[in-house]
Amino acid sequence: MKAQLENIYSLATEDIAKAASISDLDEIRAKYLSRKGEFNEIKKNLKNLSDEDKRIIGSLANEITKKLETSIQTKHDEFYKKELNQKLEKERIDVSLPGKFTPKGRIHPLTSTTNEIVSILQSLGFSVVESKDSPEVETEYFNFDMLNIPKDHPARDVQDTFFTSLASNVVLRSQTSGAQIHVMENQKPPIRVISPGRVYRNENINARKNNFFHQIEGLYVDKNITFGDLKGVLNEFIRIYFGSSRPTRFRSSFFPFTEPSAEVDVQCIMCGGKGCKTCSGTGWLEVLGAGMVDPNVLRGVGIDPEVYSGFAFGMGVERLAMLKYAIDDIRLFFNDDVRFLKQF
Ligand code: DAH
Repeated sequence: MKAQLENIYSLATEDIAKAASISDLDEIRAKYLSRKGEFNEIKKNLKNLSDEDKRIIGSLANEITKKLETSIQTKHDEFYKKELNQKLEKERIDVSLPGKFTPKGRIHPLTSTTNEIVSILQSLGFSVVESKDSPEVETEYFNFDMLNIPKDHPARDVQDTFFTSLASNVVLRSQTSGAQIHVMENQKPPIRVISPGRVYRNENINARKNNFFHQIEGLYVDKNITFGDLKGVLNEFIRIYFGSSRPTRFRSSFFPFTEPSAEVDVQCIMCGGKGCKTCSGTGWLEVLGAGMVDPNVLRGVGIDPEVYSGFAFGMGVERLAMLKYAIDDIRLFFNDDVRFLKQF
């Protein structure tokens, strides 16, 4: 029996030496040391031996089992370390490599300019109209008729305004001034509102004109509103928006819905007033139109022009942004070039 034990021991030792992985060792352990393993088979026969032999063979069997267990465990530990190292090597990450770059979005310069203009005007007491009073798809009634724009006015021509196929009198609004009518039809004076939004014109696109752009409309109607109030508000607006050093001028003009009417110019940012391509040699750039609300317009919405008066203004957001940031081509706002947008 002793020889048998030693034989199994040497076979097991050989097996262990040949083992190439943890799973090989698991097999060896099962083959020799498990309950059904070879050593247990021998131990089962111990009962047939004399007491003396039982002791000798029993302790030899225990000794051999221990030795095998130790060498299996030692080898197991080696394999475990090696496999772990291989795994770590394979799955190694270089924490010093830069991560994936996801560019950050930005607020579009037209949005930030609109926000800035709106907040200046809010600080001067104006509030933004509800969107229902400022639709982009409008009837001629709001876009032209009620603004005192005659039926034969050139702005009504398809060359200038986009008509829709919805109905013959439905247009993409060509100005935000229609918001004035919506508000005055729904509210009694005092009215002090602004309405920012997109407008559309059937233009040939070039550096100065796009076929859609953005305006901010303003309207102030109350008792005793004068042209002095208009000048006060607009001068204050321009002073805050451009800073006090930028020269401005009021120039008399004409709009069907205001009487008298004015246009406000600021000194050309490109040439400092000397005259250049951007300002067509005049040294000035128009930034907004304004005037006292025409009595016809007030009458149309049921406000008595003998009791109330008001002023209105409309400014181009692109124009104001271009002047502030010295941008010389309106198309830059619309072609989503990140090299441009990144600068704001
Ligand atoms: N709607 C005019 C335009 O698009 C701008 C304008 C001028 C608006 C005078 C006004 C105003 O409210 O009083 O050119």
